[in-house]
Amino acid sequence: MSDQLRVFFAAALSPEARACAADAVERMRAAAPSGVRWVPAENQHLTLKFLGEIHEGHVDRLVERAAAKVARSTPFEVSLAGFGAFPSAREARVLWLGIAQGASALAKLARKLDAAARVAGAERERRPFAAHLTLGRLREPARIELERLVPPDSVAWTVSEVVLYESRLTPGGARYVPLAHLPLGAGEGDSNEEFAPES
Ligand code: 2AM
Repeated sequence: MSDQLRVFFAAALSPEARACAADAVERMRAAAPSGVRWVPAENQHLTLKFLGEIHEGHVDRLVERAAAKVARSTPFEVSLAGFGAFPSAREARVLWLGIAQGASALAKLARKLDAAARVAGAERERRPFAAHLTLGRLREPARIELERLVPPDSVAWTVSEVVLYESRLTPGGARYVPLAHLPLGAGEGDSNEEFAPES
């Protein structure tokens, strides 16, 4: 048996946000070509840091380091916004819902988790963090007429924890198994240091 785990940190969705994402997938289907791999509702999340394969023996100290950093952030509101595509609507590869409220707080958590991930040997993220909720992925880039689509009504919820997930790749698709729940602190925090660089 392999002692490597494929893991990532994410913020989970509330049931209402999950329903909103499912509705968004249905609306997005109208403008998307066939062959898009839609993310199943139970797999929807806001990725904060993808580590890839790490050694099983590094999980405990990863969780310990990340939990200490996350505990210094206070819970915050996020809400989902309109449709978008990476890298662009003209050559879309990833179809997503954007974040209206809470994007900078998510970016701050992402920086902390990126720093914490070094204890597990993960590489630092080179690209700037762009909070988004992935709805589907295209095998071949395609043009998507996003402006034709009406996004669902925005849904807000409170992010009060970060979850470390294991991504198990099965013939039926990826299955995400929560390994640890890292609560955000409820009081004392550094939430005013919005733009402080993470080391
Ligand atoms: P995204 O959908 O928000 O882009 C679990 O695989 C999650 O990790 C995915 O949902 C994806 O987030 C993110 N991820 C980031 N880089 C990845 C990579 N190289 N391979 C797979 N997933 C990656």
